[in-house]
Amino acid sequence: MASDLPGFFAATEMPSAGWWQALWPDPAAVLNAVGLTSGTEAIDLCSGDGWFTPSIANAARHVVAIDIDRNVLNAARHRLHQNGISNCDFVTGDAYELGNLAPRPADFVFMANAFHGVPDRPRLARAVREVLKPNGCFAIVNWHQRPREETTVLGEPRGPRSQLRLSPKQTVEAVEAGGLLLARIVELPPYHYGAVFTRSSS
Ligand SMILES: C[S@@+](CC[C@H](N)C(=O)[O-])C[C@H]1O[C@@H](n2cnc3c(N)ncnc32)[C@H](O)[C@@H]1O
Repeated sequence: MASDLPGFFAATEMPSAGWWQALWPDPAAVLNAVGLTSGTEAIDLCSGDGWFTPSIANAARHVVAIDIDRNVLNAARHRLHQNGISNCDFVTGDAYELGNLAPRPADFVFMANAFHGVPDRPRLARAVREVLKPNGCFAIVNWHQRPREETTVLGEPRGPRSQLRLSPKQTVEAVEAGGLLLARIVELPPYHYGAVFTRSSS
């Protein structure tokens, strides 16, 4: 099982496809809301099987999809190939080691549905800071801190258990402790928010 891999973040297994697709029918709109702009060097951190990666690749100059689980990365590779997308590289590794995994500085690091499971969040933020260009952005997409039984998709409660969910305030405190600055919080209905950070205040 992927969750047996050393360093695997808690409760971040890739969900089954049917309900993920129902929850995220428009990945490009999510990326637009958290500030992905065209022509950027991007990283999809904890990319999973690449639900968001094609939309990042369509906007970015280049994207690197990084995940600790080589099987989901192979699925991502297949998805992008099927879509005729070639401006994406795939790197297997632990997100804490981002500084050693990213081939070049990034304008935009995207991390969806994984930050809740990171044990040392300031450490992760420091790793992201290390690879960001001076005005680069780190966009986190998190489940809202609502009871799991309330966040139903296709008739069933979904997402990480209630105790693992982070409020925007908890997310901001953890990331700012790692040296990044909050730019804005955006709502991503029905159950998520985006927290966007920058390397500098300008
Ligand atoms: C819930 S999935 C979300 C995937 C994708 N971001 C999305 O929203 O569709 C979380 C992903 O994080 C990956 N992951 C877990 N621990 C990791 C780590 N330490 N470093 C890199 N990836 C990790 C898992 O393998 C999984 O594919």
